[in-house]
Amino acid sequence: MTAPAIDAAKDRVVIFDTTMRDGEQSPGASMSLDEKLELAKILEEMGVDVIEAGFPIASNGDFEAVRRIAEIVTESTICGLARATAKDIERCAEAIKPARRGRIHTFISTSPVHMKHKLQMGPNAVLEAIHASVSLARNHTDDVEWSAEDATRTERDFLRRCVEVAIRAGATTINIPDTVGYTYPEEYADIFRDLIANVPGADGVIFSTHCHNDLGLAVANSLSGVQGGARQIEVAVNGIGERAGNAALEEVVMALRVRADRLPYQTRIDPRHITRASRYVSAITGFPVQFNKAIVGKNAFAHESGIHQDGMLKNAETYEIMKPEDVGQVETNLVMGKHSGRHAFREKLKALGYELGDEGLNEAFQRFKDLADKKKQVFDGDIVALVDDSLARGKERITVGRLVVTAGTEGQKAELTLNIDGEPRSAACSGDGPVDAVFKAIRELAPHEAMLQLYQVHAVTEGADAQAHVTVRLEEGGHISTGTAADTDTMTASAMAYVSALNTLIARREKAAPDTRVAGGFR
Ligand code: KIV
Ligand code: ZN
Repeated sequence: MTAPAIDAAKDRVVIFDTTMRDGEQSPGASMSLDEKLELAKILEEMGVDVIEAGFPIASNGDFEAVRRIAEIVTESTICGLARATAKDIERCAEAIKPARRGRIHTFISTSPVHMKHKLQMGPNAVLEAIHASVSLARNHTDDVEWSAEDATRTERDFLRRCVEVAIRAGATTINIPDTVGYTYPEEYADIFRDLIANVPGADGVIFSTHCHNDLGLAVANSLSGVQGGARQIEVAVNGIGERAGNAALEEVVMALRVRADRLPYQTRIDPRHITRASRYVSAITGFPVQFNKAIVGKNAFAHESGIHQDGMLKNAETYEIMKPEDVGQVETNLVMGKHSGRHAFREKLKALGYELGDEGLNEAFQRFKDLADKKKQVFDGDIVALVDDSLARGKERITVGRLVVTAGTEGQKAELTLNIDGEPRSAACSGDGPVDAVFKAIRELAPHEAMLQLYQVHAVTEGADAQAHVTVRLEEGGHISTGTAADTDTMTASAMAYVSALNTLIARREKAAPDTRVAGGFR
C-alpha cells in the first residue's frame, strides 16, 4: 500500500463520503454488494477523495464490500471503520489491503456521558485506548483517521488531550464528529480553532468535520468547521445516515462552489455526477428524495409562480443561483418514442449521465422499447427510472412472467406466473386489495418468512399513463432488502419490486450458507 496522495493545501477540502457506512446505518438503507460496487464507481468518477466503504468487523457482508471496493477503485482512498480494539483494527486492515490507497478510521467516545454509560471507562483508560488503537492502525497503513465520538459534547480540555495523544500515535486525520447533531455553527468553528491553535502537532494533520442533522444544521456546521480550519468534510449522498442523517454531499459541494466568494476552498468533485449519484442512492435504498430537497429534489429547479416564470424567461439569473446542468440535471431536446433507435437511445443515456456497457445498453434498450410500446412519449424521468431499475437488479433466481389482476367492487384476485430457476409456476390468489392478492401469490409460489416492511408507490412523471415507481422493503432475521421497479402497470411494478427484494434476500442467504440451496425451497 502506498502513502496517501491527499494533499493538505490550505485551500483544498477533502471530500469523504460515508454513504455506504454511516448512510447504510440508517434503518432500512441496506445495500447489496453489487449496489455498493456500482455506487463506489459513481463516487470515484465524481471525484470523491475518500470512500468509507463499510465497517468490516460488523459482518462478513461489510468486510466483503470493503475488500471488493478496495480491489476495483483506484482513484479514491478506500476507508474502513474500526472501534478502538485490536480485533476491529486487524479486520479493517485486512479488508482495505487490496486498496491502492487505504485508510483505517478508528474511533472511541470522549464525552462524559458516553464514557460513563456506553464505554464504562474512565478518561485515562480512554487515552490509553486511543494511543493503542492509533499505533496499531499505523502498523498497517500510513493513512489513519481518528475520531472522537460525541466530540461536541466533550470537555474541551479533555478533547485537546485526546487529540494530542492521537496525533502523537500517528493519526493523519483528526475527525471531530457532532455525533448527536447538537452543535451550532459558531461553536463548531471555535472547537477547530482551539484545537489547531493549542494541540501540539496539529499543523501536521488534517482536521475533519462529521455532522449529523438532528437540528437541520449539518451542512451549516460542516461549512463553519471549514472556516474554523477543518480541511476534510464527511458527507453522504442525499444526506442519509443515522437518525436525521449526515451532511448532504450535494449541498456541501454546491455551497462551496456557489459561494466561493465567502468559502474560497477547492474540492475535486465534478458536480455533474451529483444527480446520477442521488438517483442511484435513492433507487437502491428505497429512500425517496423529498421534492423540495436542495440541489437534487424534483422541484429544486422548478419555477411555478407566474412572477418567477416571467423573471426566468427574461433572465435565468433572476431566480437561479446555479443551473440544473451544473449538477447533471439535463433535460434534453431529444424526444424519445417507439421509433427511436439504439443510437438515439445511447445519446440520450449519455446526456442523462449514464455510460452503460454493451450488455447493459442492450438490456436497457429492450426495456425502453417495451415501455415505448405502452407509452406515447417517453420522458427523461422514465428513462432514468428504467435504467436505475436495471442497474439495481443483479442475477435473479425468480422473475415475473404473466400477471393478470382483477380489481374493483366485486373483489380482487391475482393470477401470477413466476419463473423460478427457469421453471414457470403459476398460482391464483385473492386478497384484501389487488396488491395483497399479488403478494399472496408470490408467497404461495416462493414460500418465505420475510416480513413486508414498506410498500411505496409514486408516479415517475405526470399524466395518467405515467410509470409507477414501486419500492418494496422486506425484513428477514434482521436483514433488510429493498427492491424497486418501474412500469406503466402499478401491479406489474409491485410484483417486480417484491420479487427483486426477494431475490436479494435469497442471494444473501445463499452467500451466508451456500450449501442450503434447495431448488424451489425459499424458506
Ligand atoms: O457520528 C459519529 O460519531 C460517527 C463516528 C463513528 C465517526 O459516525
Ligand atoms: Zn456519524
